[in-house]
Amino acid sequence: MNTPNSVMAGYFYLLVFIVPVCISREASRTVDTVCAEIIVNKSYSCEGLGLTEIPEKLPVTTELLDFSFNLLPSLRKSTFSKLKSLLSLDLTRCQINWVYEGAFHNNNHLHTIVLTGNLLLFLSDTAFVGPQSLKQLVLTQTGISRLSFIPMTNLDNLDTLILGSNHLSSLQLPPNFPTQNLKYLDFQMNNIGTITVEDVSILQKTSNITVIFKGNDILYIEPGAFQSSFYSLDFGACSNIPGILAGMQNSSVHTLWLGTFDDVRKETYISPGVLRGLCNITVKDLYLPLRHFKNLNAATFHCMTKLRKLDLTHTHISALPPGISGMKVLTELILNGNNFEHLCNTSAAAFPSLTHLQVRGNSQTLQLGSGCLQKLAKLQHLDLSHSHIESSDCCNEALNGLSSLRYLNLSYNTKLHVHDVLFKEGTNLELLDIAFTQLHISTSQGPFRNLHLLQVLNLSSSQVNTSTQHLFQGLENLILLDLSQNIFESGIMPKNKLLQQLSNLEVLILASCELTALDDQAFHILKKLRHVDLSHNKLIAFSTDAFSNLKSIYLNFAHNRVQIIPRDKLVSLTGYSIINLSYNPLECTCSNIGLITWYKQNLDKIEDAEETTCSEPKSLAGAQLSTVTLHCGISTTAIIAVVLIILSCIVIIWSVRCFRQRYQRI
Ligand SMILES: *[C@@H]1O[C@H](CO)[C@@H](O)[C@H](O)[C@H]1NC(C)=O
Ligand SMILES: *[C@@H]1O[C@H](CO)[C@@H](O)[C@H](O)[C@H]1NC(C)=O
Ligand SMILES: *[C@@H]1O[C@H](CO)[C@@H](O)[C@H](O)[C@H]1NC(C)=O
Ligand SMILES: *[C@@H]1O[C@H](CO)[C@@H](O)[C@H](O)[C@H]1NC(C)=O
Ligand SMILES: *[C@@H]1O[C@H](CO)[C@@H](O)[C@H](O)[C@H]1NC(C)=O
Ligand SMILES: *[C@@H]1O[C@H](CO)[C@@H](O)[C@H](O)[C@H]1NC(C)=O
Ligand SMILES: *[C@@H]1O[C@H](CO)[C@@H](O)[C@H](O)[C@H]1NC(C)=O
Ligand SMILES: *[C@@H]1O[C@H](CO)[C@@H](O)[C@H](O)[C@H]1NC(C)=O
Ligand SMILES: *[C@@H]1O[C@H](CO)[C@@H](O)[C@H](O)[C@H]1NC(C)=O
Repeated sequence: MNTPNSVMAGYFYLLVFIVPVCISREASRTVDTVCAEIIVNKSYSCEGLGLTEIPEKLPVTTELLDFSFNLLPSLRKSTFSKLKSLLSLDLTRCQINWVYEGAFHNNNHLHTIVLTGNLLLFLSDTAFVGPQSLKQLVLTQTGISRLSFIPMTNLDNLDTLILGSNHLSSLQLPPNFPTQNLKYLDFQMNNIGTITVEDVSILQKTSNITVIFKGNDILYIEPGAFQSSFYSLDFGACSNIPGILAGMQNSSVHTLWLGTFDDVRKETYISPGVLRGLCNITVKDLYLPLRHFKNLNAATFHCMTKLRKLDLTHTHISALPPGISGMKVLTELILNGNNFEHLCNTSAAAFPSLTHLQVRGNSQTLQLGSGCLQKLAKLQHLDLSHSHIESSDCCNEALNGLSSLRYLNLSYNTKLHVHDVLFKEGTNLELLDIAFTQLHISTSQGPFRNLHLLQVLNLSSSQVNTSTQHLFQGLENLILLDLSQNIFESGIMPKNKLLQQLSNLEVLILASCELTALDDQAFHILKKLRHVDLSHNKLIAFSTDAFSNLKSIYLNFAHNRVQIIPRDKLVSLTGYSIINLSYNPLECTCSNIGLITWYKQNLDKIEDAEETTCSEPKSLAGAQLSTVTLHCGISTTAIIAVVLIILSCIVIIWSVRCFRQRYQRI
């Protein structure tokens, strides 16, 4: 018994027989808590556990409780009485039928109750008494067929009441309906067909509220019903637009939603007369998505002259008619998802005050033409993304006149050829997005050289020739440059003139550029650089030499081929610097001891430690770098000796404690 092995075997037996006795005594004290803890003592989820009561184990301090998909046929005074700190309670689909008096009497701070998907048969008059300031009550899909079923006691502080997908056929808001703090009222997907003045007269006490009626086929609104001023009214998918507008005469609403949905079977066309009722209503923003127009002509717009924003997304139009007049205050026009052949078909000249124009996701190739938007001297924001644009001479002529433009999105188009400057009048441009659009530059001078105010340039996946001389000439105010998914000659990020002028660059994205190496001084000139993404390349070396400022830089080297990092490449990372080294084939051998030691001392500088793992040696493959301990340069005998000494100490102390405890109890 004097070889190390037999000594080890002896200790092993001790460990096997004594330690479990101690452990089992500990284990019997912890009862498993069934609910998932989201935030310690504050937030718990007991979703879908088939529970029939609130677990005793939930602490009194619980504030947010998701108790959805359990079984609580009735709610009584005792049900939640322990949880005095509750703020928000989700009881979705708990088969609740009965809510007795004072069910929440002890939950003084409760502000949100969700009862979605419970077939409520009985709500006591004092069901909601208790909470001092109940703000949100969600009664979606609860089988309610009349509002009088809901007790109004103690709902004065309500700001949100959701009654969607029920069987309400009329509104009949009772005189004690809570209006003081009401902001949001949702009646979507009920069977409300008519609204009378009396039904909603109580709403005259509110102002600036949102009411959702979408999915009700409202055929008649008694004129005068909506007297107060609303923030938003949503009549989505209704078929009788003239009836609704007539009923709304003299009312005022910031946002009016008259669009429809894809799956609505009953198709109603908007002919020029349909929107005439808008003349007698004060509306700022009008949404008509997915509607079909019939005989779209200038008269259709006759009553829209006071609009600030018009949304005609997916309205199946190929041109806005000529002759639209009077739309002097419209600042935002949304024409996404339509079938324009030509940018001139937007009749942009009719909207001289536009600051925002979107023609995104056009279904066919959008011809840019020349000067189609030239009357839009105030335009600041132009989105032409996803519109199959192909231009052989981009884009001076097309953007002619847009001297106020600050944001230009040309991403996800087909191909743009630039022969000289891209946009001569773009001196105010701050953001240019050409990502995922093939960019072909045939000029020896910089295509962006006049864009002195540009701050963001996205050329991701644009197949731009990164060898183009002076590509970034003139961009002295650029802060963010995205060059991801572009190729560099021979796979090397050189120390050349490419980035030289970008003296204010802070964020540089070079992900997925097939880079194999960086020049030692590639980014030295960029003194303000603080975020560099070099992930998904083929870099074999991690080096900090290439950067000039290492006090607080973010370096993403994830998904590369780095195996070994010498310590001297890391020590210069000071202050608030962060590196991401995940998904590299890092070696966990003594040849990499520099990285491994530094890494453990600087875990606060590591992003994604979980995926920063060893690949070599095979015995450690997949182990997190932070858990690896290497003993380099110390003899194995010494280690065994130290380990044995420590082990024996532990075992002796443990067994003494353990036996003492057992005998004390006898
Ligand atoms: C949670 O509550 C327990 C018991 O009140 C308390 O001991 C513990 O410190 C609390 N933990 C946190 C993180 O608040
Ligand atoms: C009106 O309500 C909307 C949405 O709730 C809110 O954003 C806006 O600030 C409110 N306006 C006023 C004047 O209270
Ligand atoms: C709307 O206002 C007009 C003119 O002020 C008035 O004649 C009309 O009766 C009002 N309509 C309703 C429903 O109040
Ligand atoms: C606008 O209101 C007036 C007065 O209430 C009414 O005579 C007229 O028919 C209304 N116009 C439309 C288009 O509804
Ligand atoms: C769209 O504009 C082009 C160029 O101005 C014109 O030739 C074409 O007729 C217009 N198409 C429609 C549908 O108005
Ligand atoms: C440009 O448009 C695309 C697609 O519509 C969008 O994903 C991208 O975020 C937009 N760019 C900016 C800077 O908003
Ligand atoms: C281009 O980059 C900007 C800035 O990071 C970003 O907001 C935009 O969404 C990117 N565009 C696309 C199409 O991803
Ligand atoms: C990229 O530009 C360089 C320098 O202008 C030129 O020599 C090279 O042929 C270009 N590469 C391609 C693919 O056009
Ligand atoms: C580390 O970088 C990779 C690649 O960009 C990214 O997927 C991952 O989310 C990053 N880790 C964290 C924690 O942000």
